[in-house]
Amino acid sequence: MLLIVLVFVGLLREAFGAREGLKRRLYGNESTELLEVFQVEAPLRKSYDDTSCKQVIMQHDFTASYGSPYVGMYSPPTGCNFTTVIFNMSITSAGINYDRLGLLYLGDVEVWRTTTGMPVRTGIFYNFLKDVTVFDALLRTQQKVIMQLDNIYNDVFTGNFNVTVTALYYDDEKFFTPANTILPISSKRSSENHSSVISLPDGNASISVTFPRNVERAVVSIIASGNGAEEFWFTNVPTEYEKTFNNTAIYGYSPFREVQLLIDGVLAGAIWPFPTIFTGGISPGLWVPIVGVDTYDLPNFEIDVSPWLGLLCDGKSHTFELKVLGYDSVTTLGTVGSNWWVSGSIFLWVDSAGDQTTGSAIQSWTPPPQLEFTSIITTSSGLNTTLWVELTAERSISHTSTITTSAGSRELTWTQNLRYLNIQNFTAKGYNETLYQLTSGTSTFSSSDEDAAAITNTFSYPLSFAQDYVIPVDPTVVNSTLVAELDRSKISSGTSILSYLTSPKAFDVPSLLATRQNGSCIYFWNNTYYQFAGAIDPAQGTIGVTEQWFSFLGPLTSGDIDAYGRHVEAVDGYEPVLVLDETFEKEIAVPDTVNLVDVKEDL
Ligand SMILES: *[C@@H]1O[C@H](CO)[C@@H](O)[C@H](O)[C@H]1NC(C)=O
Ligand SMILES: *[C@@H]1O[C@H](CO)[C@@H](O)[C@H](O)[C@H]1NC(C)=O
Ligand SMILES: *[C@@H]1O[C@H](CO)[C@@H](O)[C@H](O)[C@H]1NC(C)=O
Ligand SMILES: *[C@@H]1O[C@H](CO)[C@@H](O)[C@H](O)[C@H]1NC(C)=O
Ligand SMILES: *[C@@H]1O[C@H](CO)[C@@H](O)[C@H](O)[C@H]1NC(C)=O
Ligand SMILES: *[C@@H]1O[C@H](CO)[C@@H](O)[C@H](O)[C@H]1NC(C)=O
Ligand SMILES: *[C@@H]1O[C@H](CO)[C@@H](O)[C@H](O)[C@H]1NC(C)=O
Ligand SMILES: *[C@@H]1O[C@H](CO)[C@@H](O)[C@H](O)[C@H]1NC(C)=O
Ligand SMILES: *[C@@H]1O[C@H](CO)[C@@H](O)[C@H](O)[C@H]1NC(C)=O
Ligand SMILES: *[C@@H]1O[C@H](CO)[C@@H](O)[C@H](O)[C@H]1NC(C)=O
Ligand SMILES: *[C@@H]1O[C@H](CO)[C@@H](O)[C@H](O)[C@H]1NC(C)=O
Ligand SMILES: *[C@@H]1O[C@H](CO)[C@@H](O)[C@H](O)[C@H]1NC(C)=O
Repeated sequence: MLLIVLVFVGLLREAFGAREGLKRRLYGNESTELLEVFQVEAPLRKSYDDTSCKQVIMQHDFTASYGSPYVGMYSPPTGCNFTTVIFNMSITSAGINYDRLGLLYLGDVEVWRTTTGMPVRTGIFYNFLKDVTVFDALLRTQQKVIMQLDNIYNDVFTGNFNVTVTALYYDDEKFFTPANTILPISSKRSSENHSSVISLPDGNASISVTFPRNVERAVVSIIASGNGAEEFWFTNVPTEYEKTFNNTAIYGYSPFREVQLLIDGVLAGAIWPFPTIFTGGISPGLWVPIVGVDTYDLPNFEIDVSPWLGLLCDGKSHTFELKVLGYDSVTTLGTVGSNWWVSGSIFLWVDSAGDQTTGSAIQSWTPPPQLEFTSIITTSSGLNTTLWVELTAERSISHTSTITTSAGSRELTWTQNLRYLNIQNFTAKGYNETLYQLTSGTSTFSSSDEDAAAITNTFSYPLSFAQDYVIPVDPTVVNSTLVAELDRSKISSGTSILSYLTSPKAFDVPSLLATRQNGSCIYFWNNTYYQFAGAIDPAQGTIGVTEQWFSFLGPLTSGDIDAYGRHVEAVDGYEPVLVLDETFEKEIAVPDTVNLVDVKEDL
């Protein structure tokens, strides 16, 4: 594989030479020139210039910030009419450091989870825009703004993260019906100047809430990411296979994860997470200067709990709990490793003309998930040399109830259908691995009310990569090598329920997204140096190429419909270069992700 990749890079250099006219140097040799490390994303609106007002809501340099979040005060703008709000997060960093997780809270509610780009000595910068309009109730209230970005800053880790968040307010003319109340499913620690994230499985993500008695719509939004031993959860194996290889440990609890929302102990909905890859993930050199899909804005997942409103509006307290589970060969679903950082928000729309929402008994269909696991081990001289694992899963969930508000009675249904496949082939005593994972599914909220269109979301997340570690006998004298190849896509269609309920006229058509990243990279390091800290430092060799296709068609916050395409390709390394960067005002063809796992032999 090493040879193949070298030839490929050689060809690419030729192509690059031929395309001299297109090349764009990303940063030069002047110390003031920073390298832009960017996430490919569709614009949020046609123009950003028509703000009614804007303000910096936080500015902080995160240096040695472990356990010391930024805490400030957010004040809504005065004398400024607004509906749409966009946060512009702008980050600079110079030095050596890992990728870091950042969590932005308004009070006890998480509004943005991000991971950073990895810095270089000469410095990086990026700006990322996020539409936060659905948090309208919070944006009109004075409260704390808290950002947790735990960074290590010392002789080795010299990279700071200088973060500025600016709020851009727009007064878009549209029918605007934001949630009246947003309740956190969090540890509610803003009063202690602390972020309110909960770490599972060690913590407890169960809260008691009492709803107003006249809620007509309730949607839960959940953010969950695996960190620490769970960052690469999709590469894990069932716990009994952790010690298959003599010298290479593999993490346990299986490569399957389910984030559950339970109401009074009953499963209301489930999330099979998007495998976000941070900028140090798989091979750090893949992500300079193009970072991974969703890296700067980890996705939230929505579960419509409106069929539960008859129960939830009874004036009593009810528990909402988040859990993260993995496959367990004995109990089917079992615990996972540390740390899953989770938080949720319950968005409530009240029936202002009604006193009490009532409902029929909930008809629920929550059969246990179907999981099937197979493995093949080959041995040589009494030692395991290869491990093949394959896990499939399927699950359906549905809740239906007739809910009565001042507008009358209607039958509401929440349905989910989820599918999952993970194949991993570990060879070379675990030093080499190929993986293919495909998570896909559909969720639908429907109402018997003829005026209320059903909202259906479908998604497909194919992910494939190969990772080969060549570790010499004395890694302090001879470089270690990581040869990596990656191919992954995110394909989705549908409508954010929260955006639709907040701005029904703007978001009354679904959006279509397809993006694929394909890359390969050879990365060297020696053990006298911090592994992976300094991905593209001149002394560390990195050579690679990353290509991305991105195609979007859908509504914008400004009420327009937009089509957007981008095709970009970068040669990675200490002086990365964009060899191709084309944008289109239309959708573009996005080729399919290729499964990099060798076809399983008939046994
Ligand atoms: C920057 O690079 C250019 C050409 O590569 C060279 O001519 C120039 O002297 C360099 N400037 C500095 C400040 O190193
Ligand atoms: C805000 O909207 C109100 C009502 O439409 C209007 O009277 C007022 O002038 C607007 N204020 C600004 C600053 O545009
Ligand atoms: C976001 O902030 C950066 C840094 O201040 C700035 O360059 C950029 O123009 C801003 N983007 C918008 C849309 O305001
Ligand atoms: C951080 O960025 C802000 C805004 O660009 C700037 O004013 C400040 O000097 C920077 N801080 C450091 C330590 O570089
Ligand atoms: C939280 O931070 C504010 C501002 O720095 C400070 O005034 C307050 O005492 C702090 N509260 C706690 C509980 O530490
Ligand atoms: C979690 O907290 C709830 C109270 O909110 C409590 O009832 C429950 O027993 C706790 N669970 C665990 C496992 O500690
Ligand atoms: C081979 O792998 C199996 C399954 O992980 C494990 O139980 C066994 O101990 C391994 N054998 C050796 C010699 O490491
Ligand atoms: C297995 O690993 C241990 C500890 O690294 C080592 O001492 C032993 O020689 C290894 N066994 C074989 C057969 O390689
Ligand atoms: C592991 O990967 C390396 C680098 O790609 C390759 O040279 C080696 O042959 C592979 N080993 C096996 C057993 O496939
Ligand atoms: C290891 O890497 C560091 C940093 O790149 C370099 O200074 C050092 O000379 C390297 N050592 C060896 C033995 O290659
Ligand atoms: C390790 O790799 C770097 C970067 O390619 C190179 O400069 C250095 O000479 C290598 N060191 C050894 C000992 O091979
Ligand atoms: C795993 O990959 C190796 C190397 O590509 C291949 O020879 C082997 O057949 C694969 N394992 C299975 C079970 O297909």
